[in-house]
Amino acid sequence: MDEKLFQERYETYRCAVEEFLSGLFPGKPHWADLYESMRYSLLSGGKRIRPVLTLEFARLAGLPDWHDALPAACGLELAHTYSLIHDDLPCMDDDDLRRGRPTNHRVYGETLAVLAGDALQPEAYRLILTAPGLDDARRAACGRILAEASGADGMVAGQVLDTLHAPRTEAEVTEVHTLKTGAMIAAACRMGAAAAGGSEAVLEAAQVYARELGLAFQIRDDMLDVCGDAEEFGKPIGSDAQEGKVTFVDLLGLEGCGRAVRARTEAAKAAVADLDDDGFLAALADSLAERTR
Ligand code: IPE
Ligand code: IPE
Ligand code: MG
Ligand code: MG
Ligand code: MG
Repeated sequence: MDEKLFQERYETYRCAVEEFLSGLFPGKPHWADLYESMRYSLLSGGKRIRPVLTLEFARLAGLPDWHDALPAACGLELAHTYSLIHDDLPCMDDDDLRRGRPTNHRVYGETLAVLAGDALQPEAYRLILTAPGLDDARRAACGRILAEASGADGMVAGQVLDTLHAPRTEAEVTEVHTLKTGAMIAAACRMGAAAAGGSEAVLEAAQVYARELGLAFQIRDDMLDVCGDAEEFGKPIGSDAQEGKVTFVDLLGLEGCGRAVRARTEAAKAAVADLDDDGFLAALADSLAERTR
């Protein structure tokens, strides 16, 4: 796909996501400090790759109007945002910078940061389970996909292994990446297909694409934690080393990581070669392999 067309579609999806998220938690109850803390992290300019994936998979799987998948796509972004707020806490990665701004707990304190994360989780399911353009079966399918990906055998399992089990070998680090990052990216793709009532074949293609893309994405994240530019990356550089983590950079070196990212990216593209009608998924995989933020 032509770079300009790719950028245009990405921006169309991203802007729709921003607009939807901006409308959430607008009121001023006397616990508006909670709303403010949630909105601070929700509206701080993430790349929105997960909801973009949901919307594109919904389109590819045949949803007549991809806007109908927006509540589900944004629900997943709420769950992702909670995971970032908690990931940055002193008891986890203890980071001060996220998306180029002070982390949630640095602004609002640990108590409100924990509670903002807590609230974002059920609110994610509220959005999915009340999505106006989806019938009950599709809402339930989307909710189940998010629950499985983010729960005790998904993202949280990955965070437990990452923070408490000191993974050392390539197999152990791959497992962490698959769970902590791959699972939510896979959920994003599968939710799009499920919102459209897509076939098993489409769901399976989404799963394989996302598995490879998710691994490439987290290996790239580990590389940028070493050789990125803090201002552009929007996160501190050297956080993994400071936390004593063994990452793919320790195991393969930066050049080896570059090769692994390329190989995973090509595998991701191959998995959707038949589905990816105009090459948006391939262009997205390529752009993430080169990302600097
Ligand atoms: C950050 O995810 C956490 C990882 C899985 C590496 P993103 O890099 O997608 O973060 P945002 O949402 O764009 O800030
Ligand atoms: C965190 O991985 C992934 C989740 C939040 C589940 P990292 O700890 O590497 O993410 P960053 O680098 O802080 O974004
Ligand atoms: Mg972490
Ligand atoms: Mg972190
Ligand atoms: Mg990281």
